[in-house]
Amino acid sequence: MKYRTIIAAAAGLAFFGAMSSGAEASKDNKNIPTSIGKSFTGKPGNAANGRKVMISRKKGNCLACHVITKMKKQADQGNVGPSLDGVAGRLSVAQLRARLANPKGSNPDTIMPAFLKKNGLHRVMKKFKGKSILSRQEVEDVIAYLMTLKGK
Ligand code: HEC
Repeated sequence: MKYRTIIAAAAGLAFFGAMSSGAEASKDNKNIPTSIGKSFTGKPGNAANGRKVMISRKKGNCLACHVITKMKKQADQGNVGPSLDGVAGRLSVAQLRARLANPKGSNPDTIMPAFLKKNGLHRVMKKFKGKSILSRQEVEDVIAYLMTLKGK
């Protein structure tokens, strides 16, 4: 290989490396999408299961940070994040999908966990290392439930 060809090949590799780390990149938040149109599973989400995932402390634990009036009877609700009442009217399915997979796309400094991101997490419990908090289908299920939150 000529010198120039080698340089070009190396540049190409670096480029593809950057692309494939895409949503999972930890440093460059510009690569993290704020909207993902395509379903992670191709299967419709199950809102009833999504509701369970959101309440579960071991799964979504969304109520630790969010108020959802419809879930008033479940556990204590935190107000670290905004109320999710009426969120279906504010965000689209595609925006919710990106937000749950990795909210650093919309806010690099957010404390909301990335539910699908596997790498680049800091302060992860050992048993969660290398694993995402929710499965792809669980994320779709949570989105299905969030889409029912149209008003109070
Ligand atoms: C550790 C706290 C924390 C947890 C746990 C958490 N969130 Fe959040 N969330 C936030 C914060 C803070 C924001 C505000 C925007 C930001 O920082 O990204 C937010 C923003 C959001 C938004 C955007 C709301 C809007 O009106 O713009 C949605 C939707 C959302 N969270 C859904 C969820 C769901 C669903 C779960 C559980 C699966 C969850 N969050 C778990 C902290 C959290």
